[in-house]
Amino acid sequence: MRGLNDKVVVVTGGGGGIGGATCRRFAEEGAHVAVCDLNADGAAQTADAITSNGGTAKAYQIDITDLGQVTDGIAAIEDNLGPIDVLVNNAGWDIFKPFLKTQPEEWQKLIAINLNGALNMHYAVLPGMVDRKAGRVVNVSSDAGRVGSSGEAVYAACKAGMIALSKTLAREHARQGITFNVVCPGPTETALLDNFMAEAGNPDKLAEAFRRAVPMGRLGQAEDLPGAIVFLSSEDAAFITGQVLSVSGGLTMNG
Ligand SMILES: NC(=O)c1ccc[n+]([C@@H]2O[C@H](COP(=O)([O-])OP(=O)(O)OC[C@H]3O[C@@H](n4cnc5c(N)ncnc54)[C@H](O)[C@@H]3O)[C@@H](O)[C@H]2O)c1
Repeated sequence: MRGLNDKVVVVTGGGGGIGGATCRRFAEEGAHVAVCDLNADGAAQTADAITSNGGTAKAYQIDITDLGQVTDGIAAIEDNLGPIDVLVNNAGWDIFKPFLKTQPEEWQKLIAINLNGALNMHYAVLPGMVDRKAGRVVNVSSDAGRVGSSGEAVYAACKAGMIALSKTLAREHARQGITFNVVCPGPTETALLDNFMAEAGNPDKLAEAFRRAVPMGRLGQAEDLPGAIVFLSSEDAAFITGQVLSVSGGLTMNG
């Protein structure tokens, strides 16, 4: 992929499944990776794996729901690694419950992580990109945000919000050299999906139902996602903005 060597890339949720795989792939492209996560150990593991392989990475413990922590974290990243070229908003959290069984406190946590977290990150990182008239933003949403998904009403609402946010920012900043695109995983075997299926009560049955629903006949793996995320962050995607790409084995086919 062109244009990623020596670029400074920020990935939230970099200590998790998809985020970890994405950080490692950016490092393979020669980027300098700020691995951000609430889970300090997970972020450190991803950063260590990259540096022990000869790449450049540093771990940052940041709770994306807290604008103060985000602002301080972004300042620390720019001090250590330099101005941010690429932002990947990937951190997320989910629970499996029919909407009428959810509690308002659960909505607040879902919204705080899946929507406000991304707002905070954009708010802290975008001014620098505007000044430099360059930047790439990739937001990791979900097929649930495109077509809905039973048991995920509030999560799906946040993920749909992330898509609308990306398209709006893509319009507002199109003449400033900044692109915003969205990647939507389907069911992907990570800690998030394990917890989600355990809560649903019958993980094996649910996994089988997911497999049957995916035209390619399997669940996603974390390593299925970085190709699309890194491509949309590269110079090869310079004329692509405001777009939504499902990476889910054909689960969601949108025109
Ligand atoms: N796994 C799936 O089936 C699936 C499907 C669709 C979309 N997604 C999306 O993909 C993204 C990555 O998820 P994953 O499957 O790799 O899950 P994961 O649980 O492996 O990783 C999510 C990471 O986000 C971090 N995180 C949670 N809250 C945070 C906060 N407040 N501040 C900072 N970091 C926080 C977690 O610590 C974790 O490391 C998420 O946005 C998720 O919604 C996943």
